[in-house]
Amino acid sequence: MKQQPIPHTPYSVSRLIFGCMHMGGSWSAGEPDEETIQRGLEAVEAALEAGITIYDHADIYCRGRSERVFAEVWKRGVARREDLVVQSKCGIRFADDPAPGVPGRYDFSREYILASVDGILKRLETDYLDILLLHRPDPLAEPEEVAEAFATLQAAGKVKHFGVSNHTPAQLSLLRKHLGQPLVANQIQINLLFPNAVDGGIVAGYAETGVATRGEGVLEYCREHEIAVQAYAPLAQGRYTGKAADEADERTRAVTVLVAALAERHGVSREAIALAWLTRHPAKIQPVIGTLNPGRIQACAEVDKVELSREEWNALFIAGRGRKLP
Ligand SMILES: NC(=O)c1ccc[n+]([C@@H]2O[C@H](COP(=O)([O-])OP(=O)(O)OC[C@H]3O[C@@H](n4cnc5c(N)ncnc54)[C@H](OP(=O)(O)O)[C@@H]3O)[C@@H](O)[C@H]2O)c1
Repeated sequence: MKQQPIPHTPYSVSRLIFGCMHMGGSWSAGEPDEETIQRGLEAVEAALEAGITIYDHADIYCRGRSERVFAEVWKRGVARREDLVVQSKCGIRFADDPAPGVPGRYDFSREYILASVDGILKRLETDYLDILLLHRPDPLAEPEEVAEAFATLQAAGKVKHFGVSNHTPAQLSLLRKHLGQPLVANQIQINLLFPNAVDGGIVAGYAETGVATRGEGVLEYCREHEIAVQAYAPLAQGRYTGKAADEADERTRAVTVLVAALAERHGVSREAIALAWLTRHPAKIQPVIGTLNPGRIQACAEVDKVELSREEWNALFIAGRGRKLP
C-alpha cells in the first residue's frame, strides 16, 4: 500500500488507517471473549496483509474493550509493537462517570487527560502511544492546561506526538498557540454523503438557499499548517457500497449508482472508489476504515489501483452534495 509521511513526525505510514472502534464486539462492560478476540486478530491480520501500518483507537471504543482486544496483537505475536503506529483518543466521558446522574460530557482537564492515557496504556499493554488525539472539542478547555498535560506525557515518554479530532480551524489555532509541540493530525468525518469539509470551502463565499454546511476552512487550515487530515466513517457504514437498505433517499441512491459504475469502469471494488474520492484530494486525506471483515479490508486496499480524474471526482462530489456546480 502507498505510504505517506505524517508531518512533524518521523513516521511514514499507509495511507489507509485501520479504525478499531468495533473491535471490542459490544459496548457493554466486561472483558472481551475469545470469539471477539479472534475476530479482531483476523481483521488485523487482513489489515497487515493489505499493508496497513497505522491503527486508530479511543479510550471509549466498546468501553475500553477494543484496546484490550488489540493488546493481543503483540501478546500473541501477530505483529510487533514497534512495527505499528498506534493512536488513541481521550476527552469524552460517559454519563454516570464518576457518579450516577453525572451527564455525558467532554473533559480536557489536565488530570483527566493524564489519567485517560494511563488507562489507555494499561489496556493496550504498551509503554507508549505514538499519537494521542483529543476526541471532541471541550467547550471548557483551557489550552494552557492541555499544554501542561501534553508536556508531562511527552516528558514521561508516554506519548510521542499529539493531535485532535473534530476540531475547527479556530480551535486548532487556539490550541497551537499554547502547545509546546506541533499538532500532527485532525480526525474529522468526511464521506460522500457528508462532504461538508470540502463543500464548506465552496459555499462559504456565496449564499445558497437552504444550504447549511460546517467545516469551512478546516482542510485549508490543516494543509497550511501541515496537520494530517484523517477522515472517519469514510464508507458511511456501507450506505453506498452495498449495504442493504430498505429505504435510501435520492442522494444516497445517486451516489450508490455512480460508485458502482465507476467501480466497474476502473475494475476495482466500490469501496476503492469511495476511498479514492478522499485520497485524490490535495489535502492527502487518510481514510480511517472501520470494517472488521477481511474481504472488505481487501476491497478497501484496492484504493491503490485507482486514481480518479477531475471529472470523476467532481461527479461523485456533486452526487454526494446533492446539488450541481457551479
Ligand atoms: N473521531 C471520531 O469522532 C470518530 C467517530 C467515529 C469513528 N471514528 C473512527 O473511524 C473508524 C471508522 O468509522 P466507521 O466504522 O463508522 O467507518 P466506515 O468504514 O464508514 O464503516 C464501517 C462499518 O460499516 C460496516 N459496513 C461497511 N460496508 C458495509 C456493507 N457494504 N454492508 C454492510 N456493512 C458495511 C462495517 O461492518 P463490517 O465490519 O461487517 O464490514 C463497519 O461496521 C472507527 O473505527 C474509528 O476508529 C472516529
